[in-house]
Formats: sequence, C-alpha cells, structure tokens
Amino acid sequence: MKNLSAIRKQFPFTKNIIYFNHAAYGPIPLNSLKETLKYYHTLTHRLDQSTEHHSFELLDKIREIIAELINSSTDEIALTFNTSYGLNIAASGLDFKAGEEILLSDCEFPANVYPWMNLREKGVKIKFIKSENGFFSIENFIKSITSKTKLLSLSFVQFFNGYKNDLEQIGKICRKNGIIFVVDGIQGVGSSVLDVKKNQIDFLSCGGQKWLLSVPGTGFFFCSKKFLNKLKLSFFGWLGVDWKVDFTDLLRYNLKPFTSARRFEIGSYSYSNLRTFYASLKLLEKIGIPKIQRQNLALLDRLVDYLEDSPYQIKSSLEPKHRSSIFSFSAKNGKKLYEKLIKNKIIVSYREGLIRLSPHFYNTTSEIDQLIRILQKNQ
Ligand SMILES: Cc1ncc(COP(=O)(O)O)c(C=O)c1O
Repeated sequence: MKNLSAIRKQFPFTKNIIYFNHAAYGPIPLNSLKETLKYYHTLTHRLDQSTEHHSFELLDKIREIIAELINSSTDEIALTFNTSYGLNIAASGLDFKAGEEILLSDCEFPANVYPWMNLREKGVKIKFIKSENGFFSIENFIKSITSKTKLLSLSFVQFFNGYKNDLEQIGKICRKNGIIFVVDGIQGVGSSVLDVKKNQIDFLSCGGQKWLLSVPGTGFFFCSKKFLNKLKLSFFGWLGVDWKVDFTDLLRYNLKPFTSARRFEIGSYSYSNLRTFYASLKLLEKIGIPKIQRQNLALLDRLVDYLEDSPYQIKSSLEPKHRSSIFSFSAKNGKKLYEKLIKNKIIVSYREGLIRLSPHFYNTTSEIDQLIRILQKNQ
C-alpha cells in the first residue's frame, strides 16, 4: 500500500507489537485520539463556545459517511452504541405472533442470538440452522424454511473463522420466501465491501469498535426504507423528534418522530465517542474499503502459502467469495502456540480452539513473515 509508513504513524504501537486482532477490537488511530481530545479540551477550558450546533452537524456527517460505506441512503441510518442495541431495535420493533419462526445459524456470535431469544416469551420459535464445518449452509437454510418462517438473522462475516456469507444469494432466498433479512455487520464492515441494497438486507447492525477503528459505545443501525414506518418505536425520546435544532421552546410535546431512522435515536449522544468514530471513518473512507479488502487478503495469502505445506490446518474457507480479513487455523498445541505468539508480541486471538488472525490495512508483509518464522520454529 502506498504511503504505508505515513499510515503506520497513526498506529504508534506498531513500533513495539504486531497487532493482528481487529476481530476482537480495533485500535484508535492517533488522529482520532487528537480529535476526541480537542472536544474534551473545549469542555474543560472553553465553555463559552457552544459545542451543540457543531455536534449536530457532526452527527449528520457520520450518518452520511456510513450510508456511503454500505450503499444505503442517509435516512436509513441511526447512530447507536453497539451491535446489540441495533439488533434489539429490530427485535423489539417487529410485530411477532406466537408460532412464528426465527432462523439463526448454530455458530452465531451470542450478540445475534439473545435479542431473538427474548421473543420466546411471545411464543416465537427460534430454530438454529446446522452449519457445515463452521460454515453457514445455504442448503440447510432452505431446508429450514417453513410457512411460519418470519426472519433470518445472520453475521456478514463469521467471528471465529471469518466465513463471509454470500449475502446476495441469501438475500434473494429471503425475498423470494417473504423472510425479513437481518445482518450483524460488525466482523466485516470496514474491511469487506458490503452493499445493503444489492443484498436486499432489511436491517443491519454494526458496532464501531472493531474494523471501524472506533471505541466501544459507537455503532449504527440500518433500517431499510421499506421498514421505516413499519418498525414500532419500542423506545421513543426527545431526540427522536425534529426540533430543527431550535431548543428554545422545549415544551412543545406535539413534535412527530423523524421520518428517517433518526427516530430510533432517543437522547443525548456520546459526542466524544462520536468524534473518535468520525475521524476513524474518515481515514477508512480516504483509503477506500475495496483497497483495504485487497490489502488484507494479500497479507493473508502469504500466510496461506506457508500453511498449506505445514502441519497446521487451515480452518477458514479459501473460496474467494467466502474469504474475509479474519483467518483461522489449528495447531496440535493450539493454546500453547497462542501463548507463545502473545509472548512474542504478536497479538492474535484463541477462539473455539483456533488461532484467529485478523490483520488490517496498516499491517505489513514483514509482520506476517515474523509470524511465519515463529510458526516454523514451533512445527
Ligand atoms: C459477530 C459479532 N457480533 C457482535 C459482536 C459484539 O456485539 P456488541 O457490539 O453488541 O458488543 C461481536 C464481537 O464482539 C461479534 O463478533
């Protein structure tokens, strides 16, 4: 990648460690930290300057940049606090009847399970689709559909092996069968290209704390136009209505919810967190997700080349359309190897018995080679 050394200055820890763990949490680029501190500085030293108006503009800019990122309209984006929050907006706002069925994958991250299980009290049935070797099976999905199937909720990218789902095909099946299609985007948005329109996604929820290089407490919820009026407001708050940024007459209780997804935003925002979020989104936008996707896969290619002729076992799909920036392999002494890597300041995760690697655009081939050298010694 061009300008790599300038980009790496945004990540000062790269001088000391090799960070391949973006599927766990993303680091905060230096510039995002600076922008956030400026906000705190104003609150500490310069309260004569109103931050209110400027902050509302910032919210608009964030929604715009996210809309571009996933090819939605800005009106379809609500700012949230994490993935779970958005999934709960969908789960609690849809009208479920007893006996209706929700389909989930049997190896889904729990954030995309519990909000749906909560609907069991309404008599809704949760059915888990059997995966094959940890990969979502479209065949088993089709077999699970009945006349009662109301909704499928699925991760864009699977958390422990990086399996990128074929959302386009799954979206088509959902549409054909009248099934609401919900996506948990957190393991892919920011590192893999995603198009909510092309994939006919109805709702998508995503936290900002991983590939989007923001802090926990940031995220967004996409609600497709079709559902904006249909999704019940389980929570409704004063910032879900349109004040036209005029807060001089607050005793107007007759304002209507925004027609856009802002109706799901209920009260004061974490402006400091949103400054981090915005600055990081700008960085990702500047580089471009297609380029990031290519770069991350190229880094992983180097590791795949080595692993294919090694005693280690690749556990991620190598089919191009199912590859993502998350990659896993197993080793005979996996836990020990994991500990060794950490001791050598190579930060990865150990998930479901697998070594999970999740590099981002500022990682280098030489960092991958350092990992390979340790793997060779461990053979
Ligand atoms: C697929 C997936 N969904 C959701 C989450 C996190 O959910 P939340 O943003 O609500 O903490 C994770 C990881 O932490 C994840 O891997």
